[in-house]
Amino acid sequence: MKHNNVMNVGIIGTGLLGSAVATRLLNTGHNVTIYNRTLEKTKPLEVLGAHVTESPKKVAERSDLVITIVKDLDAVEAISFGKDGIVFGKHEKLIVSDMSTINPMSSRKISQKYSQYGIPMMDSPVMGGPALAEKGQLVVMIGGKKDVYERCKTVFDSIAERTFFLGDNGMADAMKLAMNLQISLLALSLSEGIIFSKKAGLDPLVFLEVLNSTYFKTGMSTLKGPKMARGVFEPSFFLSVMQKDLDEINYTAEQLKVNLPAARLARELYQKAAKDGFAEMDYTGIMAYLEKINKSNS
Ligand SMILES: NC(=O)c1ccc[n+]([C@@H]2O[C@H](COP(=O)([O-])OP(=O)(O)OC[C@H]3O[C@@H](n4cnc5c(N)ncnc54)[C@H](OP(=O)(O)O)[C@@H]3O)[C@@H](O)[C@H]2O)c1
Repeated sequence: MKHNNVMNVGIIGTGLLGSAVATRLLNTGHNVTIYNRTLEKTKPLEVLGAHVTESPKKVAERSDLVITIVKDLDAVEAISFGKDGIVFGKHEKLIVSDMSTINPMSSRKISQKYSQYGIPMMDSPVMGGPALAEKGQLVVMIGGKKDVYERCKTVFDSIAERTFFLGDNGMADAMKLAMNLQISLLALSLSEGIIFSKKAGLDPLVFLEVLNSTYFKTGMSTLKGPKMARGVFEPSFFLSVMQKDLDEINYTAEQLKVNLPAARLARELYQKAAKDGFAEMDYTGIMAYLEKINKSNS
């Protein structure tokens, strides 16, 4: 599929999400330049037509919009302002958009730092994983200046089913953290429901069938639930990344002076699971951790 309005887009970070976003942009006709700290992960995208570079600076030089999709705040700082970082590839048309999930206060500081270099920056976190990214069905949330967003709207339209412009820098990251609080708690509640029903002698697949016949069904209980019940935790979103998001959620809650006991408990459980060898599983692997602690208690 060719897009009417193609842009020169840079993707920094070709992990699970970055690779899928880059694939979608290539498939919709955009010119895509990529960088990843571990070169090997760029190979499949090179085959699809992406131009691979050896630094974030080089990506910036070749792109009008650079989307950063890296693990956490330290990574965003490193690729933005570190050695051969994005700011050193600055040119007149350059816009930066951060799709990594980070906290809103730090996102604001990063955008201010970019503005000292004269580079407009937005936060553009997303809902939906790699599979939806490849189909152009993400939900994108944008924080920043509206006119900057409008200059690269065509790129977001290529990857998103819906885009929400939420106001100034950091507002989209705040919304994203509120979303991931839902996801982390839902995964816990579904895990405990499956474990509870199994222990009570019920078939967990029937537990899901009953749940999914009610008003309380979710996309998670219909799509991820059967995999969880079968013990399949193929990662679309690593548990370690959800643990990082819970750190950001709790840090932000502290800054906002809001008391979220369930978010604190979720962080504790995901941290323990990550330390106990479950970090590289899908985040729904929290169920495998809960099963493990149940076995060691019985
Ligand atoms: N997967 C999803 O469904 C999903 C959905 C919404 C939002 N997100 C967010 O998107 C971001 C990426 O997630 P992901 O699922 O793609 O994770 P991932 O597969 O673990 O990829 C992480 C990426 O960050 C890079 N990275 C990590 N530390 C770095 C550093 N210090 N310097 C430079 N690069 C660094 C990694 O490079 P290496 O290859 O060298 O390690 C890799 O490209 C996260 O903030 C996540 O919360 C993910």
